[in-house]
Amino acid sequence: MILNQIRDILGQPFYYTDNCLIYNMDCLQALKRLPAEIVWLTVTSPPYNIGKSYENPMILDKYLDWCEAWVAEIYRITRPNGAFWLNLGYFSIPGRAKAIPIPYLLWDRIPFHLIQEIIWNYGAGVAGKKFFSPRNEKFLWYVKNPDDYTFNLDAIRDPNVKYPNQKKNGKLKVNPNGKNPTDVWQFSKVTSGKNRASKERTSHPAQFPMAVIERIIKASSNSREIVLDPFIGSGTTAEVALRLGRATVGFEIREDYCRIVADRLDNFLQHQTDQEAQLELFGTSKAV
Ligand SMILES: C[S@@+](CC[C@H](N)C(=O)[O-])C[C@H]1O[C@@H](n2cnc3c(N)ncnc32)[C@H](O)[C@@H]1O
Repeated sequence: MILNQIRDILGQPFYYTDNCLIYNMDCLQALKRLPAEIVWLTVTSPPYNIGKSYENPMILDKYLDWCEAWVAEIYRITRPNGAFWLNLGYFSIPGRAKAIPIPYLLWDRIPFHLIQEIIWNYGAGVAGKKFFSPRNEKFLWYVKNPDDYTFNLDAIRDPNVKYPNQKKNGKLKVNPNGKNPTDVWQFSKVTSGKNRASKERTSHPAQFPMAVIERIIKASSNSREIVLDPFIGSGTTAEVALRLGRATVGFEIREDYCRIVADRLDNFLQHQTDQEAQLELFGTSKAV
């Protein structure tokens, strides 16, 4: 099994289960040691080099070189029909741009084939004074082979259809399971704060909402395939992958964040075990 192979190469993980390996390591160093074509899907959000507490500030060229280097490793370890979903924000370039989407600067440095850009629109954020208040980030959907990749549209249809009974030539116009969710996605950010903190919130400062990652993993992978996040942060990709019956591997350079991941996955697995026990109990008492 591939997870065993990874363990043989990288050694004892910080945290593991049968379907999950979390390493407290620099991802670039780790990825370089892994064999080619072992991962089906990578979903990640790297540091944006904007001065966050978990970043080592780099000059622009060095940051872009670093992104090119780890993306090249992701490409190498992705299976021939695999995919790469990259979430990136903006930064300013003094004298050139107030807020340039980082993907613009990486366009010719990424060897994958770009399928499309998804706009993730979230409800709240900072208020602009001399510019429009930012309310979106991008997810770039890349594949290795444009003629052979997974897209499970039926798994991610949007049931929110305005006219579900509309017909053309006597046939329903809209798929009864819902519509294509389009390339603009509305999901709230994970919020903090005393009275408005999201239920899924951990103490990590840049956590993905699980709903976004769920759509991506369902669309771009199948049961038991391996989903990688080289910048795992609070462990969102790992938790969603496990919830959906995928195997998962994550890297995180900070030990305190690895601890958050471990606690988070332990809680989820405990909850899952409790639910299964309840179901069993309910099933038994019904049969009696
Ligand atoms: C934007 S955050 C990811 C948050 C994550 N998507 C979540 O849902 O919690 C980026 C993470 O990458 C980690 N990181 C930074 N450099 C790294 C490296 N070289 N290798 C592995 N992790 C790194 C940071 O500590 C941070 O937790």
